[in-house]
Amino acid sequence: MNELLLNRGLETMETLSLIYYSPTKTTQKIVREIGQNMGFKLISENNIAENRTESMAKITNNCLTIIGMPVYAGRLPITAVETLKKVQSNQSPAVIVVVYGNRDYDDSLLELKEIASNCGFKIIAGAAFIGEHSYSTNEKPIAKNRPDKQDLEKCRDFAGMITEKMKDINSPSELNIPGNHPYKAHKQFPATAHPETDNDRCNQCGVCVDSCPTNAITIQETVITNGELCTLCCACVKYCPDEARTLDNSIVNTIRDNLFLNCSMRKEPKYFV
Ligand SMILES: Cc1cc2nc3c(=O)[nH]c(=O)nc-3n(C[C@H](O)[C@H](O)[C@H](O)COP(=O)(O)O)c2cc1C
Repeated sequence: MNELLLNRGLETMETLSLIYYSPTKTTQKIVREIGQNMGFKLISENNIAENRTESMAKITNNCLTIIGMPVYAGRLPITAVETLKKVQSNQSPAVIVVVYGNRDYDDSLLELKEIASNCGFKIIAGAAFIGEHSYSTNEKPIAKNRPDKQDLEKCRDFAGMITEKMKDINSPSELNIPGNHPYKAHKQFPATAHPETDNDRCNQCGVCVDSCPTNAITIQETVITNGELCTLCCACVKYCPDEARTLDNSIVNTIRDNLFLNCSMRKEPKYFV
């Protein structure tokens, strides 16, 4: 039955499922743009960064899934992987997408391919797109405002490639995804490295609390950040309406300076179909 459905390709696919982790919403923008250009009437969305406690669904056979993840130090974010591993599929097709901040995506797309395959997905295509770097500031812009118009056009091109591929997804072509084993080691930051709040600007509106995917922020008399839980995703910095949150830590400042100096040349999305 499963074989049959797969053999018949796109016309049997009733739903498109978007599963992504996207604290600062660049991955969300890219995955949505790809998904919205594939002609599906039904699109379900699961932002792991928002629905972290929800138990992840079993993906049915008549569903195409796009899985999107940001790149953290050449890998996938650990907290997102923990949730993604709970998704189960019975060889339904999936497209994997990583989004990186114009440095490199290293082993992340290979890692995503292997995790998604272990969940039971049949990976039919992959891509690496570029999003504004989480550490980008107005003074030190890194891939500022990406994905931009050109990137979104490439999302639509990629959507077309997937649609073509779906016509013949049982052809025995193995996707050649770049990356190495063992994967790059995860980068550890000290618990003292986390965004801080300027209490003179802060109105305690709670946007930072709601935007944090790891529940690292609480408001007591002031805004308190738990450095053990903070993944430095910078969602609280980007979404603070009062610009009261900043990540001004010496380790991150050095990384930001290096990125600004060495990664300012525009990189373009890559597809693996
Ligand atoms: C902890 C951390 C590590 C990162 N490591 C990389 C990296 O290795 N290479 C890169 O190009 N961008 C890196 N980035 C930038 C993100 O991949 C990029 O900003 C992405 O667009 C964020 O996705 P989101 O907007 O969906 O949260 C890193 C960001 C964070 C927060």
